[in-house]
Amino acid sequence: MTSPFIEVKHLVYRYPDGTLALDDINLTIDEGEMITFIGQNGSGKTTFSKCLNGLFKPTGGDVIVDGHNSKTTPIVEMVRRVGYVFQNPDHQLFNSTCWDEIAYGPRNIQLAEEEVKERVEEAAHVVGLDKSYFKEHPFFLPKGLRQRVAIASILALRPRVIIVDEPTTGQDAQQSREIMDFLVELNEEHGHAIIIITHDMPIVARYAKRVVALGRGHILADGPTAEVFSHPEILAQTFIEPPQITQLAQRTQDQGFSPGTLTVEEMIAQYQQLTRT
Ligand SMILES: Nc1ncnc2c1ncn2[C@@H]1O[C@H](COP(=O)(O)OP(=O)(O)O)[C@@H](O)[C@H]1O
Ligand SMILES: [Mg+2]
Repeated sequence: MTSPFIEVKHLVYRYPDGTLALDDINLTIDEGEMITFIGQNGSGKTTFSKCLNGLFKPTGGDVIVDGHNSKTTPIVEMVRRVGYVFQNPDHQLFNSTCWDEIAYGPRNIQLAEEEVKERVEEAAHVVGLDKSYFKEHPFFLPKGLRQRVAIASILALRPRVIIVDEPTTGQDAQQSREIMDFLVELNEEHGHAIIIITHDMPIVARYAKRVVALGRGHILADGPTAEVFSHPEILAQTFIEPPQITQLAQRTQDQGFSPGTLTVEEMIAQYQQLTRT
């Protein structure tokens, strides 16, 4: 058996002002997983993500990525393994052309300019950013494209794990679906482990295989999506309600519906099964 790609052991993170943001976090993440982090504002999702990619060093405990302990590993070595896409792409984009933006990471790890070019073209291709945008200033692109540039700039480092912080916040249903389909493609076709931070429970139900629920710096639940949603009393501690269809199935359990029902399609399939006899 191979060891997990990421191992988090008794992780504690305290901000310089004394705020205890993470308190004894333990989990492992394997290559190729599709996970969501959920939890109310302030529960520790962003802090945890920044600990996973080495931006923050643990106050206590360990984060070990691909055999490298974040305490003793230079940040550049961490960020090429775990990429973190900021919630607001504008906090991440700072170069004056899309090309320079995407090339920044590869240049920073001192790759030869030929390799940088290859990586930029590859990342732009994967996110569907046309070459005609390479000379444009990212700031003047629409938000959807700015997000793609932000993701491309992370992809150019070819990290095995990519964390995307609230990618669908402020997007309409159609845009959210496009973003999610794109992340699924990265996961299924390119093999990246994807961690999505989101408040959107229908999105979690539809796309995540595993859910990690955080509350006040602790892990409240960690498991397959249907299993985690089957414990509304635990989710309530972090003010999260399962999707409405899951709640409906839970309240009609005595009719034979599964409390782990995640989508309308699953509900209909059960209904057809139940009424067939
Ligand atoms: N720069 C900071 N300095 C001090 N406390 C912070 C800072 N950033 C976040 N926090 C605190 O850390 C906790 C976790 O925050 P955060 O990781 O941003 O949660 P989430 O991403 O789940 O909303 C909260 O109590 C928050 O107020
Ligand atoms: Mg956050």
